Amino acid sequence: TYVVTDGCIRCKYTDCVEVCPVDCFYAGENMLVINPDECIDCGVCEAECPAEAILPDADPRAEEWLALNRDYSEQWPNMTRKIDAPPDADSFKGEADKFKKYFS
Ligand code: SF4
Ligand code: F3S
Repeated sequence: TYVVTDGCIRCKYTDCVEVCPVDCFYAGENMLVINPDECIDCGVCEAECPAEAILPDADPRAEEWLALNRDYSEQWPNMTRKIDAPPDADSFKGEADKFKKYFS
């Protein structure tokens, strides 16, 4: 599976949902997650994310986010169409420790 990591938090560009062939993105207030059971590992979303927030689970940096993707994909609504990013999205791009600061 692929996994959304904290780079997505407060960026939420949603380019990823446009390209996913199985519509397995789920949207919270500040970030999106992937349902690991629905993702077919095609990998196309990884390159689409301007925040480079999507990683394959084989990447060591993805490991700590897998459980969060699994848990929240069961709670948050499915998202299949791109929406406007938050107006200040670019100012959060690449910021460190976003989970601690902003996740809710
Ligand atoms: Fe969707 Fe493919 Fe990304 Fe998985 S890897 S979330 S199937 S676009
Ligand atoms: Fe988030 Fe990147 Fe998608 S910022 S909403 S994972 S395009």
